[in-house]
Amino acid sequence: MATEINRMFSKIYQNYDFMNHLFSFNFDKLWRREAAKESLLPKMRYDILDVASGTGDLAIAVSRSAASKGKVVKVVAYDFNKDMLDLAEIKFSKMGIRNIKNELGSAFSIRHRDGSFDVITSGFALRSFVNSKDEKKGLQKFLAESYRLLKPGGRMVLLDMAAPDDLIQGAFFRAYSKVMLFVGSFVEGDTYAWLVRTIKEFDKKKLARLMASAGFKNVRIRNLPSGIAFIASAEK
Ligand SMILES: C[S@@+](CC[C@H](N)C(=O)[O-])C[C@H]1O[C@@H](n2cnc3c(N)ncnc32)[C@H](O)[C@@H]1O
Repeated sequence: MATEINRMFSKIYQNYDFMNHLFSFNFDKLWRREAAKESLLPKMRYDILDVASGTGDLAIAVSRSAASKGKVVKVVAYDFNKDMLDLAEIKFSKMGIRNIKNELGSAFSIRHRDGSFDVITSGFALRSFVNSKDEKKGLQKFLAESYRLLKPGGRMVLLDMAAPDDLIQGAFFRAYSKVMLFVGSFVEGDTYAWLVRTIKEFDKKKLARLMASAGFKNVRIRNLPSGIAFIASAEK
């Protein structure tokens, strides 16, 4: 599965966590915690699939949030990039986490039976799905797979970034994206240019429409206070 995006993450995996925290002033941790809170279900035991899990931070946040409410969850951390998942594995074992299992594969065709999961989460990967050159309609394919894999009543929680709706936050984002491009050019220029471009281009309204056409109910997009991050959630 050596797609262009897969190769891109293999170029930056070693710096991925550090650059994430640096560029977001550590807000990414808070955003994942918010998404994790939205993923909580009113039952005691359930199964979660974290698609495009990368180095595992959203899977960890989701698992911790459930544990803090006394819930017992099993999490599959799913990604097509082995380098990213290997880093996740190291993290899980250092932290003594046993309820998260890694699985390698594409978000467009997930090898699990229909209705296998109560919750599906995904963090900062929608832009990869939209911009996959190897897969037309990648976002639609991911949404269709998520719908198929969720149990009836199950919840999907997606976290990502888009240009802020607010004028002042938008102006700040445009100025700050120049800093990201400059700093990113010392690490992997093309990748960070891709990151900034895909944030600018991401269409949240279209996402909401596609979620509804995939069959999801109660589609909700909530902008987080920074203006750049948002959580999209829905139920099957
Ligand atoms: C920006 S990282 C996000 C990682 C993690 N979710 C987080 O919160 O930091 C995007 C991840 O999506 C994965 N990815 C992108 N397209 C994918 C696809 N079609 N199938 C599976 N994984 C994919 C990449 O390998 C990468 O690990």
